[in-house]
Amino acid sequence: MKNLLLTTVLGAFAMALITTPTTSSASTEDGAKLFKKRCGACHSSEAGKNKNGPSLAGMIGRRAGTTDFTKYTGLKGSDVVWDEENLDKFLANPKKFVGAKTMAYKLKKESERKIIIEHLKTFK
Ligand code: HEC
Repeated sequence: MKNLLLTTVLGAFAMALITTPTTSSASTEDGAKLFKKRCGACHSSEAGKNKNGPSLAGMIGRRAGTTDFTKYTGLKGSDVVWDEENLDKFLANPKKFVGAKTMAYKLKKESERKIIIEHLKTFK
């Protein structure tokens, strides 16, 4: 009986050790890092702060091309509202997606697009 209890306790402890590194805090950190590396040169998460590209504050659920960024191409006046699905398509090939010609970047790795889109959701 004592042994059974010990095994259960140890088992729970081992499970906690195994599952800890995959919790959301780890992926949030990855998202921030990856965003900085892949997008940070041209985009900020701060509202109103445009760089080579528009601010990405409050991106998810917002209509495309509606910040005060002046150099939009195909996004301006399109009826796209950003959600996970169209962001994924856009990031894979911005030029193809409603002719957003000026974002000279493609994020080819699906796994990285996923992480970054999760991170974009945290931009208020
Ligand atoms: C070389 C600079 C550059 C890089 C790197 C870049 N972008 Fe962009 N991005 C732009 C430009 C410029 C636009 C405007 C596109 C247009 O209208 O032609 C844009 C537009 C966008 C838009 C649409 C914004 C809106 O207001 O509708 C999103 C979303 C976006 N980028 C996300 C990203 C993400 C996420 C990354 C990183 C994976 C990234 N971009 C990397 C330059 C860049």
